[in-house]
Amino acid sequence: MKGVILAGGLGKRLEPLTRITNKHLLPVYGKPMIYYPIQTLVDAGIKDILIVTGGNHAGEFLRLLGNGSEFGLKDINYTYQKGEGGIAEALDLAEHFADNDKIVVILGDNLIEKSIKQYVSDFSKQPKGAKILLKKVDDPERFGVAEINGNQIIKIVEKPKHPKSDYAVTGFYMYDKKVFDIIKTLKPSHRGELEITDVNNEYIKCNQMSFAVLDGWWSDCGTHEALLRANNLVAGNANHKLKNY
Ligand code: G1P
Repeated sequence: MKGVILAGGLGKRLEPLTRITNKHLLPVYGKPMIYYPIQTLVDAGIKDILIVTGGNHAGEFLRLLGNGSEFGLKDINYTYQKGEGGIAEALDLAEHFADNDKIVVILGDNLIEKSIKQYVSDFSKQPKGAKILLKKVDDPERFGVAEINGNQIIKIVEKPKHPKSDYAVTGFYMYDKKVFDIIKTLKPSHRGELEITDVNNEYIKCNQMSFAVLDGWWSDCGTHEALLRANNLVAGNANHKLKNY
């Protein structure tokens, strides 16, 4: 399986922090944000990694990460998203890299406490379709929200005013090669973007979507509050490890 990290966008909700750099290069405790999703993929045994970036500071990723030797990688693949066409449009740029293989996609501002190894292994055994990771949250209206019945997702609604559950769709997605056919059928949403939620709803309609509830903490870094929260959670982990040495 291959890994794709989506690290484009203008990070407008983090202004003025993102005026002179890309959101995913901002610090989270001791490291630039992008280090965490890379490490998550490497820890799950995925060494074939593509970073999709964009905006005005794309060159800085290469300057920071080079060929990924800090992570024990031989190289890192990079590609560039022009403009602000949304997460699904960014993912479409990974088609050539994926080369019909299954992929694990991580939104570059999504940080987690634990490993995704088990979920990746479960998906590698899933004959086809997609798998997403959900997490119970206090503020579901900020996210894609899954409507669940038993062990099936009925539908995902993007940032609903009246969420039908507390289960946010995290920025960890696993797809088979059909994802690129689905993306090509999408129409831009009211915010002018190709939505990853529309991709996921297509898989749900075909009964090809599985899910798991993520173990351990999860945070995005899309707003100042979320970025502070992510910093505190990572710091808490680091201090906990220090105490246990
Ligand atoms: C995106 C997705 C949303 C998901 C979230 C996770 O939202 O559209 O479904 O729950 O990432 O971080 P964004 O934060 O890009 O608006």
